[in-house]
Amino acid sequence: MPSHPPLLLANIGQLLTLRSASASSVPRRGADLKQLGILHDAAVLCLGGKIVSVGTSKDALRDPWVREKLKKNRKNVTEIDCSGKVVLPGFVDSHTHPVFVEPRLVDFEKRIEGASYEEIAAAGGGIRSSLEGVRKAAKADLTAKVLTALRDMAAHGTTTVEAKSGYGLTLESELKSLEAIQQASARWPGTVVPTLLGAHVVPKEFQGCSQKYVEIVCKEMIPQAARRKLARFVDAFCDKGAFAPEETEQIFAAAERHGLNVRAHMGQLSETALGPFLRFHPASFDHMDHVSDADVASLAKTDTVATLVPGANYFLGMQDYPNARRLIDAGVAVALATDYNPGTSPTISMPMAMSLACTHMKMSPAEAITAATINGAWALKLAERKGSIEPGKDADFAVFDVADYREIPYWFGTNRCSLTIANGAVTAGA
Ligand code: NIG
Ligand code: FE
Repeated sequence: MPSHPPLLLANIGQLLTLRSASASSVPRRGADLKQLGILHDAAVLCLGGKIVSVGTSKDALRDPWVREKLKKNRKNVTEIDCSGKVVLPGFVDSHTHPVFVEPRLVDFEKRIEGASYEEIAAAGGGIRSSLEGVRKAAKADLTAKVLTALRDMAAHGTTTVEAKSGYGLTLESELKSLEAIQQASARWPGTVVPTLLGAHVVPKEFQGCSQKYVEIVCKEMIPQAARRKLARFVDAFCDKGAFAPEETEQIFAAAERHGLNVRAHMGQLSETALGPFLRFHPASFDHMDHVSDADVASLAKTDTVATLVPGANYFLGMQDYPNARRLIDAGVAVALATDYNPGTSPTISMPMAMSLACTHMKMSPAEAITAATINGAWALKLAERKGSIEPGKDADFAVFDVADYREIPYWFGTNRCSLTIANGAVTAGA
């Protein structure tokens, strides 16, 4: 990690600290989702890529230790004037699929003509139609695609990204995809969390014998990705047309044996009982359009986050969106993510996901911000370092050229992020 000059964000119009309202360290739920910890006329000082002091302009710099540090470094402090702007933690986009080669324009047109996601997949479109491009691609070309997406994300305020493989679906091409994620992340100042999604769909070579493919995932992909430290999570698409609950359990068990955490695409197209998966302590269940009342109640008792990805519902032209109010009101910890991918959600914009959450899922702007920052960090098991502006945490910020935080989801389809800082380094907008 390069050493960064000390950084002072000064005269901040509205600072959303997202600092925890209570001492207990758990994902935000219920009424706590609305607590943004707002300070007016605020300042934040960072040293060595970490936040050291946060407060009103008067208070933040009063601490004797901070004054001493500042005095020593005053000459090389980078001071950024944030007057009239909103500063918040960099977004944590906890669900993306950036390793693909081509957009899926034929699927896009077919859907406009009335075909459903499942019909397109059954006719040879969908996830399977992205495989050939990735299998044939040079690693350097995949790396370039991922890096372009990461830079675009940073320009929209994102500083932490979960990035999945899942468009190769052979041992070699899944490892190549994870290596591309690793190489792109080494060239990007933000933080990338790699996930193996070998269980995205059963490739056509294994149609009718999915168990053979699951064995490759469990006995080859997971052990190799773990041994080479290419993935921190294992994901599976558990749904009709993808992997069955029993197969998903096998995949989770293999991940656990190899020391990897688990997450799953769950309830996107149909309802699956969640009980059998809870013993693996999944960091997150993602999509969650379909979930039973009993499972909502049991999820509310766990730290498993429900990650909602309304970009997919929007892009598939759906009338229905995940029922965020039902989840929040029952006490489930909810996060928001883009689900950036070529089939269902070709957007890198967290503000767009937040805007959809407000307009279509009736989340308040404050709830959407919490879901896109600290709860995203919980969904990646990174809440100790990410998702709020508190001393000791990583210096990750999004600066928006708006006077009021509610404008972030309000101005949809346009980018009001004027500066992004990741791990203390100015990443975009300078
Ligand atoms: O999250 N549901 C599975 N995976 C993606 C879609 C991937 C694709 O269509 O390429 C999703 O929506
Ligand atoms: Fe996804």
